[in-house]
Amino acid sequence: MKRDLISMLDVKDDLEEIIDLGIKLKKQSKKGENIELLKGKTLGMIFEKSSTRTRVSFETGMTKLGGHAIFLGKNDIQLGRGETIEDTALVLSRYVDLIMYRAMSNDDMKKLAKYATVPVISGLDDKEHPCQVITDLMTIREHKGKLRGLNFVYIGDGKNNMAHSYLLGCGIAGMNIKIVSPRKYWPDEYYVIEAKKFPIRVEITDKVEGCTKNADVVATDTWVSMGDESEKEQRLKDFKGYTVTRELMKQAKPDAIFMHCLPAYYGYEVTKEVAHGPQSVIFDEAENRMWAQIAIMVTLCKTTK
Ligand code: CP
Ligand code: NVA
Repeated sequence: MKRDLISMLDVKDDLEEIIDLGIKLKKQSKKGENIELLKGKTLGMIFEKSSTRTRVSFETGMTKLGGHAIFLGKNDIQLGRGETIEDTALVLSRYVDLIMYRAMSNDDMKKLAKYATVPVISGLDDKEHPCQVITDLMTIREHKGKLRGLNFVYIGDGKNNMAHSYLLGCGIAGMNIKIVSPRKYWPDEYYVIEAKKFPIRVEITDKVEGCTKNADVVATDTWVSMGDESEKEQRLKDFKGYTVTRELMKQAKPDAIFMHCLPAYYGYEVTKEVAHGPQSVIFDEAENRMWAQIAIMVTLCKTTK
């Protein structure tokens, strides 16, 4: 049996173990210890959208594990000329041990996972970004020493991949979550229903005023995700007033941290003053993509026979 990671729900039972492993391997590697746990293994990385962090963190992570990664831009492979996802999955599975896929759509992600006979890891699609949220939870654990019981506030596009994966991730980790977003951009109902199955407080609101009160973590993401470019003008109007500012950070707990998966657009979803300020952990998050994914790849390979 092979195991995929295409939704946060795929780590429902071992999220904490993956985070522990990420933190442990990060420490060992930084001490100079050998962490070559995937020696001789190959990761194929299919990209249908741009990337800085996902590409570099998976590739360097695989190198640290003693393995090898291959970059497969959609237009560099036959997928871009109409070869089916099914055949792409079946062929790549004959060469590589793991596939990372950054997809335009969640339907394509599910299709690739269905036909691949090796584990498929989502590097983001239009519905979820699980590797980023596992990374963010690892980063919160490092900064706060725990996850359970913390108050997480996300301000911005509530309908995008990050908001959806945060809803599920906070549920699994036992953190209360508040999504602050214009009504038009409230999350897909499915993710709210799933989050509410966990014993946490889930609040979806359009009220920015006072929304960060008692927050341990304040997070945001771009207002214009990849694929939403044609709506940019409308979105910039709709999200006016939803910028994470110093005032909003001041109303959170004094030791609250600020998070953003990056890339950031300063002056829109967050001011540069906050993103590069003392409460921000955005570059720890960026680094931790590598360590969290190292733990994810080791875990998926271990559970796949
Ligand atoms: N956060 C993230 O996934 O960044 P990239 O788009 O640069 O991979
Ligand atoms: N929501 C953003 C995340 C980028 C890492 C997007 O999909 O473009």
